Amino acid sequence: MDEQETRVLLSEFGASLFARGYSVGSAGNISVKLPDGYLMTPTNSSLGRLDPGRLSKLDANFNHVGGDKPSKEVFMHRAFYQAREDAGAVVHLHSTQATAVSCLPDVDQSNPIPPLTPYFVMRVGRRMPVVPYYRPGDPSMEPAIRAAAQGARAVLLANHGPVVSGKTLTDAVYAAEELEEAAKLFLMLRGQVPRLLTAGQVDDLLTTFG
Ligand code: 13P
Repeated sequence: MDEQETRVLLSEFGASLFARGYSVGSAGNISVKLPDGYLMTPTNSSLGRLDPGRLSKLDANFNHVGGDKPSKEVFMHRAFYQAREDAGAVVHLHSTQATAVSCLPDVDQSNPIPPLTPYFVMRVGRRMPVVPYYRPGDPSMEPAIRAAAQGARAVLLANHGPVVSGKTLTDAVYAAEELEEAAKLFLMLRGQVPRLLTAGQVDDLLTTFG
């Protein structure tokens, strides 16, 4: 896929996520790795109305080299790309149910959502930690995100929302959607004792689907 096709795909995914309520107002940001740098959503842009020609272009060192001013969360995306060689795209949302889980102090902060369904495990993986609260746009969160992302494809920013990486833009968007569904199930099942996937079943999924 060339850069122009990637710009169009990113804008289409933004519109789709917005239309389905995964993002409201100007919340959320998306980036994709290119051979010569990164594309990123501009700061204060609505995911529902992205202009492919005005997406921010960053060089390989995350310097702004084209398009509108990038998201104030550039460092959040950079932390994922630096921590994970397999990251080809990063999606940050304020999707309601995942954000609700990020506000719960009484869940396991190292891995709040247990393996309830195969697709959550296949898309998000074995572990998804909560990173402590930082003000949106505060660059001091970068080391904490980088450390958490070393062992996880996705993290929850406390009282803020999910950050999800994937090998491709499509993978990252699908993982963000699966995470939101898993968070919804987790909240629905709170106070009950659901049957979880066993460690053997989780291993089988990760071996079979990567
Ligand atoms: P930006 O508009 O700067 O991308 O910030 C939106 C956001 O989601 C902050 O967390």
